[in-house]
Amino acid sequence: MDNPFAGASGERLARAPATALVIFGATGDLTLRKLIPALCNLAQDDYLPTPFVVVGASRREIPDEQYRQMILEGIREHSRRKIEDKIWQEFSENVFYHQVRFDNQNDYHLLKERLDNICRQKGGNLNFLYYLATSPSYFGLISENLHQAGLVESTKHGLRRTSVIVEKPFGHDLDSAKRLNLELKSSFEEKQIFRIDHYLGKETVQNILVFRFANGIFEPLWNYRYIDHIQISVAENVGIGRRGEYFDKTGIVRDIAQNHILQVLSLLCIEPPVSFTADSVRDEKVKVLKSIRRFTTPQQIETCTIRGQYIKGYINNQAVRGYTEEDGVAKNSTTETFAALRLEIDNWRWAGVPIYIRTGKRLPKRITEISVLFKRPPDILFKNLSYRGVDQNVLAIQIQPREGISLKICSKPPGPRLRAEPVVMEFNYGHSFGVPSPEAYERLLLDAMKGDATLFTRDDEIEEAWDILDPVLHHWETKDSPPLYTYEAGTWGPKEAANLLKSSGRRWRRL
Ligand SMILES: NC(=O)c1ccc[n+]([C@@H]2O[C@H](COP(=O)([O-])OP(=O)(O)OC[C@H]3O[C@@H](n4cnc5c(N)ncnc54)[C@H](OP(=O)(O)O)[C@@H]3O)[C@@H](O)[C@H]2O)c1
Repeated sequence: MDNPFAGASGERLARAPATALVIFGATGDLTLRKLIPALCNLAQDDYLPTPFVVVGASRREIPDEQYRQMILEGIREHSRRKIEDKIWQEFSENVFYHQVRFDNQNDYHLLKERLDNICRQKGGNLNFLYYLATSPSYFGLISENLHQAGLVESTKHGLRRTSVIVEKPFGHDLDSAKRLNLELKSSFEEKQIFRIDHYLGKETVQNILVFRFANGIFEPLWNYRYIDHIQISVAENVGIGRRGEYFDKTGIVRDIAQNHILQVLSLLCIEPPVSFTADSVRDEKVKVLKSIRRFTTPQQIETCTIRGQYIKGYINNQAVRGYTEEDGVAKNSTTETFAALRLEIDNWRWAGVPIYIRTGKRLPKRITEISVLFKRPPDILFKNLSYRGVDQNVLAIQIQPREGISLKICSKPPGPRLRAEPVVMEFNYGHSFGVPSPEAYERLLLDAMKGDATLFTRDDEIEEAWDILDPVLHHWETKDSPPLYTYEAGTWGPKEAANLLKSSGRRWRRL
């Protein structure tokens, strides 16, 4: 198994084996906006395997050439950089389109013939990687039809590796996630299933493991003795855009907390894995998720969670609508657009360290940050001096839009008086490495082609994450549920969110 961090220091990545990537939902937004631009960027960096083909598969009947034009427009609009003409020529010659109506079995047999032909043309047994860029309601149907058509091979006796990538949302609650797992596993083995959480493809998220385990100075402090608490904030200033109908059935906890935040949290808090192989890392992540204290009583949910919904307000001095005025949203909707929770990990390392998470739409800015706040030193030496405060040391891991790490320390400002003031030491990805970070999908697509599942979510991780949040979501739906607070668009959520921390003398970090 390749080291998942290979390439970080500039060494050559081992090339993935010859692959045909078959994208179901090939004309959809995800494919055109994210997947194809990511593939083109991989082509530009010469990371793609040879041979490599893309076969787009969806409902409409489209000639290959027209599909190539369609994706070229997507690339022009959405790629993080301009793709050279020569690279596009080579790439597009290997892009094909095949009509597949998801519920039509015959289409899958025709797809098989087409793939066999392509393999013959390319002179080899390409691996088949299926990307289900479709609603999860199709995951079971597409997998079953692929299986029936002989397009899924066993990992032991198959001639080629066949695997499947599935997109979020993975379930609506624990039961539906278990059902989805069963549906997928009736056609694929667990090791053939790659559940994508694009947060794990971000450089800054991958760096959490390197930061923790490649630096001797932090690991001894990484526990309840030195850490006072942790805050994880995922803030967006945008509203729900054109996703009103989807979001209104989903809410921010399902959309962001259940997957991205719990994934980031589990990486941040894991024990050192035996190695950086997929299962070693994921075994440790599951242990963290299992150790997160479950919400077992309504009272616990009421004291440890806050939910809110935005009303009209201002973002960047522009007036914006309230949530229930958005397109596709029910006028009496009680869907949360903001949530804050206090979690605890009941294990030896983290006993008594609260982890506060908050996420919301229409907050003042787009920012994702993990802040680790260390315990204050004893106040004995400084208590009689005039100073602005011996502040807590804060290690902030910035995931987006800034990518880097900062450490707030106390320092003596110049001058005759002995004072302590906070200053910040910073590491910034762009400055330090001098290259822009690739898009998360680039790394994840490449890893899936190589069969490396380290950055993908395993079935048990998904189910544990739902198990943590299901009781909260269910309680919020009952008539005894705690109030849904409102907040003006452009503010940091309902003012009640401060209460989660206030009783212990803590407050949300100003971001
Ligand atoms: N868009 C994103 O950035 C994003 C990000 C994360 C996750 N996701 C998830 O990814 C999934 C796809 O999202 P999307 O935004 O790309 O959706 P979308 O724009 O609605 O695209 C859906 C695709 O599925 C095809 N399709 C639908 N029903 C079909 C059928 N019965 N037979 C054959 N093809 C069919 C459509 O083909 P036609 O065009 O021919 O109808 C289209 O290619 C969703 O579950 C979404 O939640 C999306």
